[in-house]
Order: sequence, then C-alpha cells, then structure tokens
Amino acid sequence: MVRKYIYGKPFHTEAVVARVEKAEGNPAYGMINVSDGFSFTYEMKEEDIVYGLGEANRGLNKRGYCYVSDCADDPNHTEDKRSLYAAHNLIVVSGRENFGLFFDYPSVITFDIGYTRSDLLKVTCAEADLALYVIEGENAYDIVKQFRKIIGRSYIPPKFAFGFGQSRWGYKTKEDFRRVCEGYRKNQIPLDMIYMDIDYMEEYKDFTVNEENFGDFPEFVREMKDQGVRLIPIIDAGVKVEKGYDIYEEGVKNGYFCKREDGSDFVAAVWPGDTHFPDVLNEDARKWFGDKYRILIDQGIEGFWNDMNEPAIFYSKEGMEELKEALREYAEMDTVPLWKIRAQVEGMANSHEDYQRFYHNVNGEKIRHDKVHNLFGYHMTRAAGEAFERIAPERRILMFSRSSYVGMHRYGGIWTGDNKSWWSHILLNLKMMPSLNMCGFLYTGADIGGFGADTTRDLVLRWLALGVFTPLMRNHSAIGTREQECYQFENTEDFRSIIETRYRLIPYLYSEYMKAALNDDLYFKPLAFVYPEDSFAREVEDQMMIGNEIMIAPVYTQNAKGRYVYLPEPMKFLKFSGNGQIREELLEKGHHYVEVALHEVPLFIREGKCIPVAGAASIVEELDTAHLTLLGFEGAEYVLYEDDGVHKDYENHKNFRTLIKRHA
Ligand code: GLC
Repeated sequence: MVRKYIYGKPFHTEAVVARVEKAEGNPAYGMINVSDGFSFTYEMKEEDIVYGLGEANRGLNKRGYCYVSDCADDPNHTEDKRSLYAAHNLIVVSGRENFGLFFDYPSVITFDIGYTRSDLLKVTCAEADLALYVIEGENAYDIVKQFRKIIGRSYIPPKFAFGFGQSRWGYKTKEDFRRVCEGYRKNQIPLDMIYMDIDYMEEYKDFTVNEENFGDFPEFVREMKDQGVRLIPIIDAGVKVEKGYDIYEEGVKNGYFCKREDGSDFVAAVWPGDTHFPDVLNEDARKWFGDKYRILIDQGIEGFWNDMNEPAIFYSKEGMEELKEALREYAEMDTVPLWKIRAQVEGMANSHEDYQRFYHNVNGEKIRHDKVHNLFGYHMTRAAGEAFERIAPERRILMFSRSSYVGMHRYGGIWTGDNKSWWSHILLNLKMMPSLNMCGFLYTGADIGGFGADTTRDLVLRWLALGVFTPLMRNHSAIGTREQECYQFENTEDFRSIIETRYRLIPYLYSEYMKAALNDDLYFKPLAFVYPEDSFAREVEDQMMIGNEIMIAPVYTQNAKGRYVYLPEPMKFLKFSGNGQIREELLEKGHHYVEVALHEVPLFIREGKCIPVAGAASIVEELDTAHLTLLGFEGAEYVLYEDDGVHKDYENHKNFRTLIKRHA
C-alpha cells in the first residue's frame, strides 16, 4: 500500500513513474511540521532498524548517524562524511511498525537517524515543497519491493558488462591500451572492457578523441574488439569553453547551457578549464546533449561512464574573483592568516554559493540550480539513456554514472565514486550494495583495489573476491597512485583464479540480476530480509544474500587467513580455488570460522538449492552455457535465465530454462 502526500508545490522529479493517488491529511506515522521548512519526526523503538538511503556512508542499518542528500564530489569517504555523490531519499523503518518513506525532494535534505537523540528519526529540508510517499507492508523486504514497483524497471546492461573491466586514470595512447590488453591476455586473466578516462579526449572536450594519440579511432576500437575488449569512454558534465569547438558553439547558439541570473552562460572550471554545463533539466538541451553520444557510438563504442555530474565545480569565475580580492587584502596585512586562506581555497570547490549562481530553464520556468541540485547527474544520464533509445532502440548500451537520484536507475547504473585503497572500503562497498538495490540501482560496483592512495596486492585480491559478485566489476585507480592492474603483482595466477571464478559464476549472477530487474526485486539482500525471524541474522552487516540461492561473506581484514561467518540455516560452503578446483563442505546452522586463502572465492549455497557453474572463459561471449555444472544440494532445481545479452527480448519464455541437480 503506497500513499502520496503532497506539501506545497513539489518539483516534478519523475522519480516515481506509477500513478499513486494523492492522499489527504498526514501520514499515520510520525509528525509533520511545515511551519519552518519541512520536518518529519518519528520516535524509534529500541529494536527498530532503519534501512535505505542507497549510496550513503556507514552501515546497512542507518541508525546512529546523520546523512545529508546533497550530491557532492568528495573523494575522501571517511566515516564522518554525511554526503556522497548521490541522493537516494528512501528509508524503511523495520521493527514493531514497518513502513517506508520516500522524500521526493530534489535539493538538500537531512536524515538525522538517532544522531542528535538516539531514539529520534528526523528528516528535514529547507522548503516544504515535496511529495512524500508512505509505504506500508508486512516487513522491510515487502516495502522495498513495493517501492521498486512504483519507480519503474531498473536499467539492464548488455551482458558483456558482467565481464571484468580494467581502468586507470592516465591511459593516454593506443600503446597504453594495448599494453593493458596484452598484460591480461598474456597472463590468461579474463578481461572484457578497458575504460578510457579523460586523457583519450582532445583537451578534455566531450565527444572528441585525441587525433594525435588515437588516429583512426574506429579502426582502433575494432582492433581492441578483435582482442575481445570493448573500450568504454568517460563523458564529463562540463563542456569546454572554446571558440570553434562545435559542441560549445551549438550550446551557446541555442541557449542550451545553464545561465546566470543575467542570462549569460555560467562558467565553471573543471578538467578542461572553463566549461559550461548543458542544461539537462531542459528537454531540448537534454535531447541535444544526448544525441552527441552518437558521435562515439558511430565509431564502434558500446558503453560509457558519466562523470563529474554532481555537477563538480573546481571553482567558478565569481569564486576566483573573490579569492583574488581576498588575496589582495591579505597581502596588505602584517601577518598572513594562512588557515583562512586555506579554508577559502578549499571552499571554492563545489560551493553552495556557486550552486546558487546558475539556473535551469524547465518548461520556460527559470529554476535556480541549488533548488534542484540533486537531479543533475540523473538528468545527464537520462539524456544519454533517452538518446540510446533513438540511436539504437533494439540494443543495450552500457551506461553508469557517478551522481544519481532515484529515477536514474531506469537509465543506467552507478559506480560508487572515488574510494581509497583502504580495507574499510571493502566493507563499505559490501554494505552499500543492498541499500543501492533498494533504491533501484542494480548495476553497481566500487573501484576495486581502491581509487585513491597506494594499494597492496592482498587488498586487490580480497577486493576482487567481493567484486566477483558485484554486477559492475572494475579495477580503477587514480593517476599517481601505485599501479594496480592485476599483472602488476607477483603470482598472477592468484588473480586469474579469482577473475575466472567470476566468469564461471556469470550464468548464475546474470540470471539473478535479470530476475531482480524483471521482477523489481533485489539482487543483493540483507540477511534480515530472508531470515526475518532470526535475531542473529537481523544484525549481520558483513554477509549478504545474492539472488535466491547464495550467501557471501568476503574477507576484508588484512593478514586474516579467514573469517567468522554466521549461517542462518545449514549451507554448502564452496571455495573456488583456481584451476577448476572447487572444495565443498556441508556446514550446520550457526557460527563457524572458515579459512579462505588469498586466491580463493568463498560462497555459501542455501539448503535445498543449487547454482549453475560454467567452465572458465576469457571473455563473456566465450562462456559455454550449454555445459553447466550444478553445484549445491541434490535434487534441487534452478531456473536459468539466458538471452543473447545484446537485444531487449527480456520477457520471452524461451529465456528461462529449468535445470535439475540429479542425484549422483
Ligand atoms: C573523477 C572520477 C574518477 C576519474 C577522475 C578523472 O575523480 O571519479 O573515476 O578517474 O575523475 O577523470
């Protein structure tokens, strides 16, 4: 049961696509106050768990901290951060009362979940203009599924996107890409994609390719594809200001860029230097910008990642003038207030003042950016997604974004942004996955190995062993950090062993992904959703269910030889150890210590279930799904989903095949 309450004049975000009747009065839960902005207050019971918030910091149970939906380009995901790149305003209270709340509000909104007062849930935003959806259901899982129904089907990528991808900021030439490809092929480590970061472009200009380094680009795209590798270029939000650059010229001429109050085009400095932001909230501008993806698609490109779309601003023209002015004043002083200068310089990036300096044109209405800030990444990706429907209506194109809002899940996936090579970030990665699924984002993953800071061999291996299960499995790192492609370390067979396991599991992972997408269900589930009566399971945050058959429990501690794991029912413990070896052991319900070596991938099959496993392959296309082995419990049945991975014939009953694990 979903009810919609309207306060003031909400901005039409198009997060929810189903028709939900407007309800009268106020929700049955909590207290609403609209006298000074908007607030929702609810007294939590001791046993209440609060789920949701998608891409947010900390735990699966969001209780005990404060989170702010305010899409931010912040590469330091320390425990104290309240805002990351996304705004996913769904929370679900699960305890004596069970209900979900979706705050459809496109600007800054704060979720104080037992932070100021441990028993108080308080959601506040500056303006009482929003739609509040209240969802009632039997339990948290049921509520989440109802939410998923009203926001529309999640994005489905092409099947190759379930392969492994290598990325690094700094690949500049054809040679760099050839070296990566060769590194993988020579070491027989599977690889399906290499990502092109900003250096492939001509001076960071969107939809251009550096001529000098990538002469005859279509031929190079083909060359890589002959090696089984797809190139996936990045697209940034800011369009470089440069006379003669066609996209800049067209945008200016047609008024497609975000404007200042006086009507001039707003200037934000990002990678290319001065840029303008395409006004993706404006339908015409969105169509125009989206159609530009065709330039690369026509050259053979089949996937993209959208970046810097919070939108990130290093500084604005105005901000720079203010700094210069301040520096002139400081220069007159006897003692220079260094800390003040530092704060001012740091405060220039992604500043709220700048977000108040430009406007969108939405159906002729001028809307100040800060009022709709959290919708920019969503609409940039929507621009691409809508264009793909025009450019290649029958085909799936890979797309994921950094910034997002609920609604964007229909057009693309996301990666979780600039994490670090920290052990704690493996755990953060794991905990975020089911929360993202709750908000509709199924095609997700983190930068494996860590983006910032120097990684270590064991960290990459342990992270990969989690990445085996995330739909997006990509190793990515920042320029200047230690190189972390799998072949950069000793004993590459350990890396091969883990990534081969991913490929062997693709028949299962892809089937479960597709079932989740087609049924508005979760691919990653908290244990509590499957074992609601089990008091241990309710608290587990470092193990997750994937699909309907398995549980995972990754190792995320340095130097650990294994880990403790809780089994809510008897399960078969499987360890993929490379060279086709799989160890199997039946474990009783309860607590166990399991040993897991660095090159191994552990998983647990639920009682009475089985999973299909293929032989290893070096690319997704070469997986032999005609010869699958079923592992798990005798007599169990498994419904395999399989399609050509390219087109959109999802509902065809021929895509489903029942497999039975016969008694030996
Ligand atoms: C941003 C992205 C990162 C990328 C870098 C350079 O920090 O999050 O993934 O490598 O920009 O484009």
